[in-house]
Amino acid sequence: MTEAIRTEGIEYVYPNGFQALKGIDISINEGEFVAVMGQNGSGKTTLVKHFNGLLRPTRGKVYVFGEDSSKYTTAELCKIVGYVFQNPDHQIFSSTLLDEIGFGLRNLGYAEDEVLERVKAAIEKVDLKKSLTDNPHFMSMGERHRVAIASILVLEPKVLILDEPTTGLDYKRSLELMELVKKINEEGKTIVLVTHDVNLAAQFSKRVVILKDGKIIADGSSKKVLSDTLLLAKSNLIPPQINILAKKLKDINVPEDIIKVEEMVEFLQKYVNLTKLSK
Ligand SMILES: Nc1ncnc2c1ncn2[C@@H]1O[C@H](COP(=O)(O)OP(=O)(O)OP(=O)(O)O)[C@@H](O)[C@H]1O
Ligand SMILES: [Mg+2]
Repeated sequence: MTEAIRTEGIEYVYPNGFQALKGIDISINEGEFVAVMGQNGSGKTTLVKHFNGLLRPTRGKVYVFGEDSSKYTTAELCKIVGYVFQNPDHQIFSSTLLDEIGFGLRNLGYAEDEVLERVKAAIEKVDLKKSLTDNPHFMSMGERHRVAIASILVLEPKVLILDEPTTGLDYKRSLELMELVKKINEEGKTIVLVTHDVNLAAQFSKRVVILKDGKIIADGSSKKVLSDTLLLAKSNLIPPQINILAKKLKDINVPEDIIKVEEMVEFLQKYVNLTKLSK
């Protein structure tokens, strides 16, 4: 298994003296889908910005595909690890889709016909029904998130970091966006998803990391972490609704670590069939 990202004891102190990370050890393998959770200000954005050199640790090391990242520039690291900003408006600054999504490629010196081809492919990939001359600033929040993702995807990074990509989207749009992210993961990219949404994390990620006050307080399978009511409470989170139901139904032997609706359906179908048989 290839290790995509590894951090060793990273600490980060902002210029004003605030210590946002207090010793983080994490290892993420290629192909994983990891959710990073934790309450506001726990250090999620600060941590993931270390994965591609947008921030450099005050102490400790970050390895990207086995290489000490301090040997590389942020521009070099961004080609391997793409970070989609928490707020798409902090990322979008061009007045046409072509200029916006093509910016990184042009910076890297790609020929204009190649830029055009790749930008078109990226727009298609994120399923954005807009033309190359449309102004991203006038697009809806959901569309702007897709523009932000496309402008990173176009650089074909191996790891994609999405910092709360569903902020401001209604549930249906959030699900659609997550389906897109799932597809990107299935095509082989490693996904690091920062999210506050336990239901989305349960449905899409296989592993959950929880940060609190700049430290990791949990790192394990989504099933284990997202069904641990006491642990989640430390970060003001509650388990997914379906897990709350599962726990209330423990008298009929519903497993207490069910976190997805489909798992519950599967269990209940078996349960109903067994009850019919025993009659
Ligand atoms: N530029 C900065 N200067 C000083 N302190 C900062 C700066 N940016 C963030 N912080 C502080 O570092 C801590 C961690 O911030 P960070 O943005 O990583 O949190 P987060 O977990 O991503 O929060 P949110 O869920 O609100 O996005 C917070 O207490 C924040 O106030
Ligand atoms: Mg953040």
